[in-house]
Amino acid sequence: MSVSEYCEITLDVFLNMTGQLPFDVYIQLTPEKFTKLFKRGDDTDKGRFENYAKKGAEKLYIHRNDRRDYIGATERLIRKMVGSQKFMPKDAYRALEELSEQTLFEIFEDKIFDEESVYRAQDTIRSYVQVLKNDAGVLGQFIQLAKNETYMVRHSIAAAVFALLLGRAAQNTNEKLLEIIGTGALLHDIGMSALPSNINELDRKLTGPEWKAVKEHPDLGLKMTESLKNFPPEIYQVIAQHQESYDGTGYPKQLRAEEIYYPARIVAVADCFSALTTRRGGRSLFSPSEALALMQSERLKFDPTLMTAFTKLLSPKKRRVA
Ligand SMILES: [Fe+2]
Repeated sequence: MSVSEYCEITLDVFLNMTGQLPFDVYIQLTPEKFTKLFKRGDDTDKGRFENYAKKGAEKLYIHRNDRRDYIGATERLIRKMVGSQKFMPKDAYRALEELSEQTLFEIFEDKIFDEESVYRAQDTIRSYVQVLKNDAGVLGQFIQLAKNETYMVRHSIAAAVFALLLGRAAQNTNEKLLEIIGTGALLHDIGMSALPSNINELDRKLTGPEWKAVKEHPDLGLKMTESLKNFPPEIYQVIAQHQESYDGTGYPKQLRAEEIYYPARIVAVADCFSALTTRRGGRSLFSPSEALALMQSERLKFDPTLMTAFTKLLSPKKRRVA
């Protein structure tokens, strides 16, 4: 197997897993050399994983073809943790972070998007909503936690977290609505996966043709949903409209004000803030306060009620996520 066929996973997650492993697990010995620690069907040996952790190993590896099995196992682990009354200890956050990152990595790097991707995204957000209900401050930490090197993965997680925090700050306590807002935010940019991966990491202004290609991403995203069975219409609307602006200067349809679907208006605020503050090409473009000031200088683009709620959310007194 070549190095590129392995994908990095987090050792911590195994400390809570039980039962048989549905995939092989490898450790990296040298940049070029991996060795198999466990094979598919082996029992999850907590003691051995703890030993590797004690020796300083943080990352393990699976074959990239097994990513789905790994995501499924992580998801089952989270469900078990959430159901166990000991609600969301640190380990569960770690597993949830891993589920978010792996689900998005598959979309943006492996370029796989199907019914199961949607299901995983919904499941991730359902867990986020439970976290939000219990401790909004901790949800904010997800943004710092996202270690994945892929900009789109980090950006999508941050957009989902900010959208959920804003959704709740704007007095939306309905869990179904929050799930639409969060899942919409997590998947809003799936169309970007149809563009070259490095287009987001460029350390310069986009050229005319590059910018034209980027502007097609809402439509590209919608195309990706066409072949999927039962794609949620609410998420479709978020993908379609998240680049519209409240003052009618957005794209692709120049919708304005209340013509824009409410969850898409929330995602527009969260998306913009995330895009300005998420590290790309090794650095963040703006600090949280600079990003907020910039958005306020262009506040006509955003729903005024939402901008007020978002500003309040990030104000120093209540600042938990910035
Ligand atoms: Fe976008």
